[in-house]
Amino acid sequence: MIKKIFSGVQPTGNLHLGNYLGAIKNFVDLNNDSNNECVFCVVDLHAITVKQNPRELKSNIQETVATFIASGIDPKRSIIFNQSGVPAHAEGAWILSCVARTGWLNRMTQFKEKAGKDKEKASVGLYSYPVLMAADILLYDATHVPVGDDQKQHLELSRDIAHKFNTDYGLDFFPLPEPVMNNNTRIMSLRDGNKKMSKSDSSSYSRILMTDSNDDIRTKIKKSKTDSMKMPNDELSLDGRPEISNLLNIFSAVSKESKELVIKKFAGKEISEFKSDLTDILIDLIEPISSEIKKLIDDKGFLNKVLQDGANKAKSISAVTISEIHDLMGLKS
Ligand code: TYM
Repeated sequence: MIKKIFSGVQPTGNLHLGNYLGAIKNFVDLNNDSNNECVFCVVDLHAITVKQNPRELKSNIQETVATFIASGIDPKRSIIFNQSGVPAHAEGAWILSCVARTGWLNRMTQFKEKAGKDKEKASVGLYSYPVLMAADILLYDATHVPVGDDQKQHLELSRDIAHKFNTDYGLDFFPLPEPVMNNNTRIMSLRDGNKKMSKSDSSSYSRILMTDSNDDIRTKIKKSKTDSMKMPNDELSLDGRPEISNLLNIFSAVSKESKELVIKKFAGKEISEFKSDLTDILIDLIEPISSEIKKLIDDKGFLNKVLQDGANKAKSISAVTISEIHDLMGLKS
């Protein structure tokens, strides 16, 4: 059976190891399976829910596309485009905002975190952000959505919106999208094992970027927060050691060995020895991707063509969905 895949990434800065291990690595695996039809979107309309510098936004859009391709997504096989290039997303978001209930949006934890104490000052867009995300997914009849753990609640909302639309209009019009997740859906900050690795953390030592040099990676792993004990002997002794647990998760994700096996390999050893091996495998992973990103960034003509071709394909798929929605809702004369 053909799986229809949709996912998006915000162009709000360099992508980090959390984005890669939690989402983009899955995009690549899904892209490589010929049973799938994949659509990957640079969600610039989501990015502007908080104020962006226009020049930086433009270059971040290109860098996000470059990171997709450098990581292994083939633009000949998968559709890659930016959200603002396809007007159906904005229209779909409006229509679905008339289906979604405010009570559902009030429960979204990401809005509460991002809006902070002064909710009155948050943009309306930040509040209705998950409805735009539902439009992204539903316009392409996506059945599977690869995301990290932090997007799970938004995906559940997309399912609720799809279900209510189907109930209101008496049809199985939208498929209910399923999350695609691996074991690395929550990569934590290198400075605090209880906080998610994030583009917005004020410390650049909290995250490894997919554009980091080998020296950057070496320094960041060396400086990453740990404790003064030796490496644990088993999973149980990881209790209360969130930073070591996170580094073990990263090691396991990058080396593709189970966490159990990685724990066994380093049991009782010095943390410095583990960090040194972790640095080596991270460099092996990131060096080729980062050098490819740099090459692609210099080829703006190519990146723009990928976005243009992708937008044309995305427009023709999403226009059909919008037209069917118009018909169902009585919007067409
Ligand atoms: P964004 O841009 O914040 O993140 C992109 C992807 O990276 C994942 N991710 C992580 N995974 C593991 N550990 C982390 N520390 C980590 N940080 C980020 C995210 O879960 C995400 O999968 N709302 C979305 C973008 C979006 C979207 C969509 C996704 C818009 N429309 C439709 C799926 C389908 C977002 O802000 O992702």
